Amino acid sequence: MPCLRSSDETPGPSVFRTRFPLQRTMTANTAAQPAAEIIDIEKDYYLGEVVVRALRGVSMAFPVGDFVAIMGASGSGKSTLLNILGGLDRPTRGTYRLAGQDVSELSDDELSDIRNRHIGFIFQSYNLIPQYTVLENIELPLQYRREQPTLTTEDRERCIALAERVGLGDRLEHRPFQLSGGQQQRVAIARALVNDPQIILADEPTGNLDSQTEMEIIALLQELNAEGRTILMVTHEPNVAEHAKRCVVLRDGRIVSAYDNVEQRLAKVAGV
Ligand SMILES: Nc1ncnc2c1ncn2[C@@H]1O[C@H](COP(=O)(O)OP(=O)(O)OP(=O)(O)O)[C@@H](O)[C@H]1O
Ligand SMILES: [Mg+2]
Repeated sequence: MPCLRSSDETPGPSVFRTRFPLQRTMTANTAAQPAAEIIDIEKDYYLGEVVVRALRGVSMAFPVGDFVAIMGASGSGKSTLLNILGGLDRPTRGTYRLAGQDVSELSDDELSDIRNRHIGFIFQSYNLIPQYTVLENIELPLQYRREQPTLTTEDRERCIALAERVGLGDRLEHRPFQLSGGQQQRVAIARALVNDPQIILADEPTGNLDSQTEMEIIALLQELNAEGRTILMVTHEPNVAEHAKRCVVLRDGRIVSAYDNVEQRLAKVAGV
């Protein structure tokens, strides 16, 4: 059974569908400091006279080791939320704590440092540099390190190991146009791992892939989650979302519901 119905408005059996006591669930799950936490986040975009209220008060804590699927209709605010969580954008109002630090108190340089150290990004369209090889693409984030922008032999070896880990050890000199979509996304995943981040943010990571490749990428994300990394993944696909530990649904910039996939799977096994 997919974890989400096409409409989040249709209530299912209570065991399958939890109308959210959001903060309480978080507190119960959070043994120590969460990997990330947002409190009453709002984001307004200004287009001339018009204000677009992309996020209208979103609160949520992401415990270390969480794997959350973020769903919702087009325009509901999913990418806006992910960009704020990734420190690519700042909220208009509200608090964001990343690794215990209030992001609003950080300068742009401090924010980009903390982002480099703690967060890896994966995008739907892979965002690889077309003229770079696989290995050069994986190495790219290391060149943004302020303390050590020059690559060491160890760095190079680590990048090769990451390429091998995602099954591309024999494609190091290929360029993105010489790779399949799934292989390009694997390069993007290796690149996201290069700074050994605690949190991986993925915006529709399987959106351009066929269903078999989609499941391979999800398996890779699950592996990273099993290592203790926190994964926050936007997806439109219920069959992708159900592989996360829980799902959150946004509508018009607000969280409208959340589902615990693990609870669902247990209920399914128990025949409820
Ligand atoms: N830079 C921007 N300037 C103005 N409005 C924006 C900007 N970025 C997003 N918006 C608006 O904010 C709202 C949320 O957009 P967002 O991209 O977060 O949606 P989404 O849920 O990711 O949608 P999709 O599923 O289509 O990717 C939309 O109404 C969008 O038009
Ligand atoms: Mg989006």
